[in-house]
Amino acid sequence: MGEGISDYTRFCVDLRRQMWMVGVEEELRRLIWQIAITGKYISAKIHESNRKLAGFRNLYGEEQLALDRSSDEILKNQLQYSGFVREYASEEQDAVVLLGKGREKYFVTADPLDGSSLVDTNLAIGTIIGIHKESVFSRGRDTMVAALYITYGPLITMVYAAAGLGAHEFVLNREGEYVLSQENIRIKDRGSIYSPGGLRKDLTEPHLKYLEYLENEGYKLRYSGGFVPDINQILIKQGGVFTYPALQKSPKGKLRLLFELQPMAFIIEHAGGIATDGREDILSLKVEDLEQRAPVYIGSRFEVEKAREFLTAGT
Ligand code: F6P
Repeated sequence: MGEGISDYTRFCVDLRRQMWMVGVEEELRRLIWQIAITGKYISAKIHESNRKLAGFRNLYGEEQLALDRSSDEILKNQLQYSGFVREYASEEQDAVVLLGKGREKYFVTADPLDGSSLVDTNLAIGTIIGIHKESVFSRGRDTMVAALYITYGPLITMVYAAAGLGAHEFVLNREGEYVLSQENIRIKDRGSIYSPGGLRKDLTEPHLKYLEYLENEGYKLRYSGGFVPDINQILIKQGGVFTYPALQKSPKGKLRLLFELQPMAFIIEHAGGIATDGREDILSLKVEDLEQRAPVYIGSRFEVEKAREFLTAGT
């Protein structure tokens, strides 16, 4: 799409047309579209659960579990129905699920409802998806062909990135269509917000020094407790850093490499940012098991490189 496109025209471009225009190949286009559509059904479930929660707040834990499971069920069924997906790895499943007959092109990972514990607070939550061309037990850099996330907030938005074709944002409109809101999102080399996970008392010395550096430089604190909205904020505000570091008692941090970190690293890289575990790129880490976790520094190049300096100083 040319730069001269008017706002009016942009808001008329729906997801399928935009993917066709930037050159996403047909099967991948259809798969991304079908996944994006599940956002509507998952969002309907969130609304349903909140209606129940309004009267029975003490049932919240059970409702949250049910919501996680039904989001997973919705996604799994939709992917199976698509006919393009061989294997499905989900945060809600103990093992990889075989969906196809063995000839399908794609391997999909999902965190169907990340941050579901925030539903009762009415903060934004999201769905995170990775799309691979080979088994997921490898390096993301070698296998990933696309990634996307959906945010369920005041608006439902979807951001996807397809290999070499940029990162783009869409908003679900009242007619139930995803319309283009930002094409080729670019993150600045240096931003002004930081989003730090982990309790201060559990942090390591080098990480604490890194946070002090950011604070002294005047970075503004922006942390919601939901990975999807926190990353989305950095992307849409075009800069800053999110981190969930190694903790003294859990050197691998909290977030899951396959379900959470790889897809977000893929999207942020396509927007010109970077993502590391403090040393190595997230997409260079080999996935050995579904539960694998890694520390993460993700966002603008300057802040992520600065973290690497602090973490490697004196080693
Ligand atoms: O992994 C689930 C998750 O809720 C993420 O969405 C979020 O970034 C993180 O955990 C928040 O962790 P904490 O509650 O320790 O800040």
